[in-house]
Amino acid sequence: MLYIGVDLGTSAVKLLLMDGQGEIKKIVSKEYPLFFPHPGWSEQDPEDWFHQSMEGIRELTADCEKEQVAGISFGGQMHGLVALDDGDRVIRPAILWNDGRTGEETDYLNEVIGKDRLSGYTANIAFAGFTAPKILWLKKHEPENFAKICKIMLPKDFLAYRLSGVFCTDVSDASGMLLMDVKNRCWSEEMLEICGIRKEQLPKLYESYEAVGTLKADIAKELGLPPEVKVIAGAGDNAAAAVGTGTVGDGMCNISLGTSGTIFISSKNFGVDEHNALHSFAHADGRYHLMGCMLSAASCNKWWNEEILKTSDFGAEQAGISRLGENQVFYLPYLMGERSPHNDPDARAMFIGMSMDTTREEMTQAVLEGVAFALRDSLEVARSLGIQIERTKICGGGAKSPLWKKMIANIMNLKVDVIESEEGPALGGAMLAAVGCGEYPNVETIAAKLVKVVDTVEPEKELVAKYEEKYQRFKKIYPAVKGLF
Ligand code: XUL
Repeated sequence: MLYIGVDLGTSAVKLLLMDGQGEIKKIVSKEYPLFFPHPGWSEQDPEDWFHQSMEGIRELTADCEKEQVAGISFGGQMHGLVALDDGDRVIRPAILWNDGRTGEETDYLNEVIGKDRLSGYTANIAFAGFTAPKILWLKKHEPENFAKICKIMLPKDFLAYRLSGVFCTDVSDASGMLLMDVKNRCWSEEMLEICGIRKEQLPKLYESYEAVGTLKADIAKELGLPPEVKVIAGAGDNAAAAVGTGTVGDGMCNISLGTSGTIFISSKNFGVDEHNALHSFAHADGRYHLMGCMLSAASCNKWWNEEILKTSDFGAEQAGISRLGENQVFYLPYLMGERSPHNDPDARAMFIGMSMDTTREEMTQAVLEGVAFALRDSLEVARSLGIQIERTKICGGGAKSPLWKKMIANIMNLKVDVIESEEGPALGGAMLAAVGCGEYPNVETIAAKLVKVVDTVEPEKELVAKYEEKYQRFKKIYPAVKGLF
């Protein structure tokens, strides 16, 4: 049978067709615009997601045996607020995961409601990108829109709803709303009350690998697919990527270098760190995970190359970089503020340490290193909790760069396992579909069977030592400049 995985990303939707043995038959990508209506705000039109996903599914399945398509599932950008009215119309553009407008609401939740209570209800504290502070923002700044809300959903759930007619979400993605009791995998009555919403406005919760329904008849017809195609709940993109890289079960690690940068640690048991510096979320394998998320990772490199250097040849810019561990230039990657671990929507990016002989290569190197240093900040939190991590998988667009992988291995002192396909969320989505359709009994089994490590980037002792000294300097920059933002 064939399975479709949909990675609803921030710059594009990526669709992947996989067979039951894990062979990737085709990949299609369709872009859509991202709007920044004010500095630090970030929005998209859900109709663009739907339109491009439909186009993508058509293209993806154009040459396959359509009767063989058994299921479709998703990995979606997390935390976004999608609100529909009583006619199922999108009320306003979706407010995305990297939107920083909710500083006041985040402070209200963390300081007035209080971090301890929030953590008790949801296992997490408020971060500007999470959904609950966005609901409070809407209530205060757009009361007429707030009053119209009939359904609140996450980005990928909008696709599932349009495809199947079922108002659903999954526990991994819902964890990032700050409305769910993560430990017990149910909505938190207290959080609903704090946000002034009712349970009927929220989708039904499923495990990521559960079937929620099938394609609606008109959609199946439009796509030329059988109406029996199952729609599987899917996962937040990081949990889906973890499935796609085999980061399931206990104590496994995955780094995603996409628009955002995340470090994801799977866990059999529920756990929360004392300061809630890492997110404590439900995993798509039926268990839990901890995660640190930086808001701008590969997007820093994209911005630097495309907007500043005016080039699209990222490889050529990296070709001249040879002196690892020697760079005098540092870069703070906070183009959209920062989530983990600083929780500071007002932080901004900066270069520091240039001299008259600084080269273009050193600036590019600083951007790549800055992202790796900032990811290490989250890894240090995990290490401080006594979590031992020696190796990690890696995925996302940035993982295509051998140089960046080498930097990650040496800056974080981790063995970096490279897998056959770095299509994390789309592959994870297709794998969840295969489980939901009964081709595999559970997520751990399919991951063990399909995910293959093809190479390992080993940290080198001398380089690790050089980067250790650089990281100790990097760590001092943000506290020194944060008063400026
Ligand atoms: C995770 C997060 C990002 C988005 C990117 O908490 O906000 O990784 O999911 O799509």
